[in-house]
Amino acid sequence: MILQYSILFLLLVNYCVADNPCIYYFPQGVINLTTIGLVNSQPRFKDVRIIIPSEQYKYSYNPCYSFTERGCQNVAACQS
Ligand SMILES: *[C@@H]1O[C@H](CO)[C@@H](O)[C@H](O)[C@H]1NC(C)=O
Repeated sequence: MILQYSILFLLLVNYCVADNPCIYYFPQGVINLTTIGLVNSQPRFKDVRIIIPSEQYKYSYNPCYSFTERGCQNVAACQS
């Protein structure tokens, strides 16, 4: 499950065309994240590790609504 979210996250970060942080338009269709984002200032995906041998960072991400954790204030994504 975590790996699937990591892959989705990478796809979104690298390949999407977005005019709104909640809705991503691809040639194959639309990904609508409106109901996935938490509205309580917490990240939906917290401290996710990307499966790359040299990767030492963790990532948190919340679609649509900003969150705050550690040194990241009012952000959509946080690297730590
Ligand atoms: C995205 O999802 C929300 C909540 O279900 C809905 O209100 C909105 O119309 C959707 N937008 C698009 C472009 O699909």
